Amino acid sequence: MANTRLSLIDIGRPGDPAVFDADVRAAALEIVARYPQGQSRSALLPMLHLVQSEQGYVSADGIAFCAQVLDLTKAQVAAVATFYTMYKRSPAGEYLVSVCTNTLCGMLGGDDIYQALSELLGVGMNETAGAAGEPGSITLERAECLAACDYAPIVTVNYEFFDNQSVDSAVGLVTELRAGNRPQPTRGAPLCSFKEISRQIAGFVDQRPASIRAQATGPQTEAGVRLAQRLNQQAPGYPPGDEAEASSVDAEQTAADNSGKPDYTSSNDAPLNTFKSDPAADSPTGGQSERTNTADEADKGK
Ligand code: FES
Repeated sequence: MANTRLSLIDIGRPGDPAVFDADVRAAALEIVARYPQGQSRSALLPMLHLVQSEQGYVSADGIAFCAQVLDLTKAQVAAVATFYTMYKRSPAGEYLVSVCTNTLCGMLGGDDIYQALSELLGVGMNETAGAAGEPGSITLERAECLAACDYAPIVTVNYEFFDNQSVDSAVGLVTELRAGNRPQPTRGAPLCSFKEISRQIAGFVDQRPASIRAQATGPQTEAGVRLAQRLNQQAPGYPPGDEAEASSVDAEQTAADNSGKPDYTSSNDAPLNTFKSDPAADSPTGGQSERTNTADEADKGK
């Protein structure tokens, strides 16, 4: 098997930036334009996701392309690409299945889930079952905390959440994926391919209506807010002198409200409903309005 750790620094294949076409180059320039002039190197992380969205991994070609566009050395780009686990060093499957085996998920069954999926797929860490990129192909990885401990044990598929998993449910999920089906995540946007989610992470909005409508939060996430409300606890408002910050936040929210379009790339990045964004905020009863009314009062510094 090829040593993927060496693939990015293969001096016999230094990488060819020309494999990326004019559309990718235009997308790269769009990314660079998001950053202040003269600081294009700040665009490296989304650029790496962009090349990954084209090839399913960060190849030597992708390294060379990023270096060329951002005026960096290939060594500088490779140093970053090999630091973060979200950048894959060999072509990933249509689905990246990440099993959290960090402390909480591990204690609640994450290790058993990983073991079961590894045996089911016949692959280990960062290996792919099936032909990479082909329908139903799956790359498996152990993951550190996926920031959803309140739903442990967690499995994500292309970074969409499948909460409160068990060995049986995770095996069922992966079996569905291999059969060409796309189960609905517990929260957030519907599944897409690994290449598609990589493009979203590069900062290009997921335009699917179901993604725009999706809710990324759940009852456990809001439990603290609801408890604070029941105990009549309120967060402090902006301290005197910080009104400028408060009004700039309000202005951003108003702009987002008025545009009719999301300014985030997937529902997981969407802000939670607030007294500004939740149309039910004025209602005295039920659901979101309970927590949003609390937020309203807290924001007024009562
Ligand atoms: S420990 Fe698994 S999501 Fe945090």
